[in-house]
Amino acid sequence: MAPHPTEKEPVRFYNLPLDERLKRIGEQAGLTPDELAALSGAAGLQPEGADHMVENAVGVFGLPLGIAQNFVVNGQGVLVPMVIEEPSVVAGASFMAKLARAGGGFSATADEPVMIGQMQVLDTPNPHAARLRILEHKAELMSEAAEIDPVLKKLNGGPRDLEVRILEHPATGPFLVLHLIFDVRDAMGANVINTVLERLAPHVAAISGGRVLLRILSNLADRRLARVRCTIPLAELKFGEYSSELLRDNIIAAWAFADADPYRAATHNKGIMNGVDAVVIATANDWRAIEAGAHAYAARSGRYISLSTWGKDAAGNLVGTLEMPMAVGIVGGATRVHPAARAALKLMGIQSASQLAEIIVSVGLAQNLAALRALASEGIQKGHMALHARQIAIAAGATGERVEQIANQMVAEGHVHITRAEELMKGM
Ligand code: MEV
Repeated sequence: MAPHPTEKEPVRFYNLPLDERLKRIGEQAGLTPDELAALSGAAGLQPEGADHMVENAVGVFGLPLGIAQNFVVNGQGVLVPMVIEEPSVVAGASFMAKLARAGGGFSATADEPVMIGQMQVLDTPNPHAARLRILEHKAELMSEAAEIDPVLKKLNGGPRDLEVRILEHPATGPFLVLHLIFDVRDAMGANVINTVLERLAPHVAAISGGRVLLRILSNLADRRLARVRCTIPLAELKFGEYSSELLRDNIIAAWAFADADPYRAATHNKGIMNGVDAVVIATANDWRAIEAGAHAYAARSGRYISLSTWGKDAAGNLVGTLEMPMAVGIVGGATRVHPAARAALKLMGIQSASQLAEIIVSVGLAQNLAALRALASEGIQKGHMALHARQIAIAAGATGERVEQIANQMVAEGHVHITRAEELMKGM
């Protein structure tokens, strides 16, 4: 049995047995037994639910759900659910959140939830004149678009602007691309945008004299960015033999590598997405949309670069920023029907899609720092080994402080194996 938390020395979350962890987050976030069962996997999405979500369903597929600790976003403590199969990610995010907390936590903002819907208009007799004709009817098209979703209209969502570009390709010659800029409020927005575009298409065809082909949302949601910054006090960076200054400068140099080289930037941004996707999946949002938007945004200048920046402030503290598209919703789609996703939103106390976006980018930045801190010092394998050793110690029956003792011993010996963990347990 793990020792119970005392006022003097609360047991660390990761040292608690799994059911105690569940109990603790339930108490902290006021979750019901049903919500806890959904998060634990004891209940949650059932095959019957899956059957309503996709075709040819035969069941559901499980992935680990961990709760990242220590996050303070815009002054509020938040427990962050992360769904991910990779070890070290939840631990890395939690540890970096602790360092950031020492500097005041994460300061995040999000744009209005505005998405872009695209319409491709081919075969206009004169593309320049057709473009102007569409723009002359802008007010009319926008008020038509505003009426299509009455629920969204009531919530003050709806069209915000309409733009038309002329593109050209050898396969088609010149064609028009209409962008409908549309506020989707707390939705991810794909359904509403696609519906509105399909309804507007005949009118656009009539106005332009062309043929409307594609009517689809753009995943390059660059009007719906979320951004976050954090300051890591210099003193927090001291790590083993690495002085704070050396580690800070190494982290900045590691970032510079990613910013200068797409081969490195891809891996660097993948580390950011380790954190981002884990929360996106925990809330049953569309992680492919988030991935597509992130990488297209990283390449917006024509050169693929880092989504984050790392530098120092006047006092020498490490300062990180991250800015990226974040098209996530908290209503509609899978988010509403997936019991664990609903419980995940409640765990975080989410009230709006923008608030969720702010938490997600904070986790992305924390994850990026976890990777850079390890890469710019001892490398990532040692940390992986330590975590793996703890898992082996637990598998051998260790609880409480023994988990750490056995894990440390195995790592020091360079022999991380269940048989060795069992021997050490017997010897205790
Ligand atoms: C591994 O999942 C992620 C890292 O490769 C990220 C990075 O290299 O920055 C460690």
